[in-house]
Amino acid sequence: MLIKIINFVIIQWMFGYCQPYKLLVVFPIPGKSHSILGHAFVKHLLNAGHEVTYITPIPIKDVEPRLRQINVESNYNRFPSDDVLDIQKLIDKEVDLKDMPTVFTLMYDVANATILHEDVQKLLHSASEEFDAVIAEWMYSELYSGFAAVFNCPLIWFLSVSPHNMALSLIDKEPNPAYTADHIMSNSIPPFTFWERVGELWILFRWKFYRWSVNDRDSKSFDEAFKSAVMERSRILLPLDELKYNGSLMFGNSHVSLGDAVVIPRNFIEIGGYHINSTVKPLPNDLKIIMDRATQGVIFFSMGSMLKSSKMPEQIKSGILQMFGQLKQTVIWKFEEELPNLPKNVYILSWAPQQSILAHPNCVLFITHGGLLSTTEALHFGVPIIGIPMFADQFTNVNRAVAKGFAKRVDLNYGTPENLKMAIDEIFSTPKYRERVKELSFIYNDRALSPGSEIIRWVHHVIKTKGSPHLRSPALLVPLYQKLYLDLIFLIIISVLILIVVIKIFVNKRHIVVDISKKFS
Ligand SMILES: *[C@@H]1O[C@H](CO)[C@@H](O)[C@H](O)[C@H]1NC(C)=O
Repeated sequence: MLIKIINFVIIQWMFGYCQPYKLLVVFPIPGKSHSILGHAFVKHLLNAGHEVTYITPIPIKDVEPRLRQINVESNYNRFPSDDVLDIQKLIDKEVDLKDMPTVFTLMYDVANATILHEDVQKLLHSASEEFDAVIAEWMYSELYSGFAAVFNCPLIWFLSVSPHNMALSLIDKEPNPAYTADHIMSNSIPPFTFWERVGELWILFRWKFYRWSVNDRDSKSFDEAFKSAVMERSRILLPLDELKYNGSLMFGNSHVSLGDAVVIPRNFIEIGGYHINSTVKPLPNDLKIIMDRATQGVIFFSMGSMLKSSKMPEQIKSGILQMFGQLKQTVIWKFEEELPNLPKNVYILSWAPQQSILAHPNCVLFITHGGLLSTTEALHFGVPIIGIPMFADQFTNVNRAVAKGFAKRVDLNYGTPENLKMAIDEIFSTPKYRERVKELSFIYNDRALSPGSEIIRWVHHVIKTKGSPHLRSPALLVPLYQKLYLDLIFLIIISVLILIVVIKIFVNKRHIVVDISKKFS
């Protein structure tokens, strides 16, 4: 408590005292990692003294007087993550979460259910509600821009992955596909070969096409959810197609040490790592003893919170376990069930304090699904990784980590135990992975402001400057044909054609003149 108060005083002093703002925070994706991001964001705002209304499918447990929560756990019915994210189905390629229409439909369903949720509608229609800013997660849907229209306040987007074409096009323009790998569809890392470059352009076209094809559906949902609320406040609702480009700022859960040095606009602020506690929580005593005693080092293995490792096929499970038993390191495996015949050096935990384990000096390797939170934590604490990507952006995250030199990639299939063993041997046979991860960890940690302080600074800035119009990219006002100078190219072609015709006519006339003069001479 005392630390909280001191923290509060320091932050207030750093940023100049300001009155507490009323903020609406919308993070409605039903998934553990999204709620980790939402909770951490809300905690930073509360610590800075603000009042927060938080729309979430997993409410924060501690009650705080300045926190009001709107529970949208019914969103789980829209996105049954346990069924969709089944390891067996992913291995057998029964589900494909890299399929564009699937991604868009799932996320639209969640967004639509959120804005039509009874309690959310109550909030929208309550005449006394006022907010100084709306902060909404962008997840393949722009429907939340309606909140800012209702409350007539600035809109701030939050992006849970590294900056990419769809998100950047809302506040600036798409990055050039010739040197930018797509965030989930791409399997390559720039510099691209000719065909990879063509492939990236093709992916960009397909995204644009799918987004365009759902325009009508989205506009209808948008009007249905927000129109009457805006009219009750004596204003009219502008079209979604206009309002979605009116975001003042976008926060990105990314950092250049993890991704590529993509060109970002002035109102894109990278806050990757803000979810990591500034002071590491101490390990539970039994775990601490295990890690302290592991003189050969500890390997931490976790497939994250979405995938249940108990659904892993028996053959792979026992293969991995047997392989772990042959290692000289100690292995801590986050797993939801007891395993029989556990080797002496392997410990199973149904819940693992991931940050505290990675922070322990004996932790020498992290085997992960490559979710962005996990790869960020690996860099934060300087631990090399082996990535076993399963879905969404995990492939790109792992490919990038491999290209940056602090990771190996292993795919999940029936050959995994063997391939994992080879990757582990490779990581420990040379110091280069450890050295590289320390270098990157320095780059990651070498920032002027902590990511949590960045959040507060920029939320204040947007509110104080009434939506920060000075940060808006001029690119938003320029249509594609002008960006590509197609009008100039058209003009040049037409001019050349006219010139050719004129010259032809002129030459023909001279012929006639010459002919006539010949006749008369
Ligand atoms: C766009 O955002 C600015 C700043 O938040 C706001 O003043 C303006 O009213 C918004 N425009 C529309 C059309 O809502």
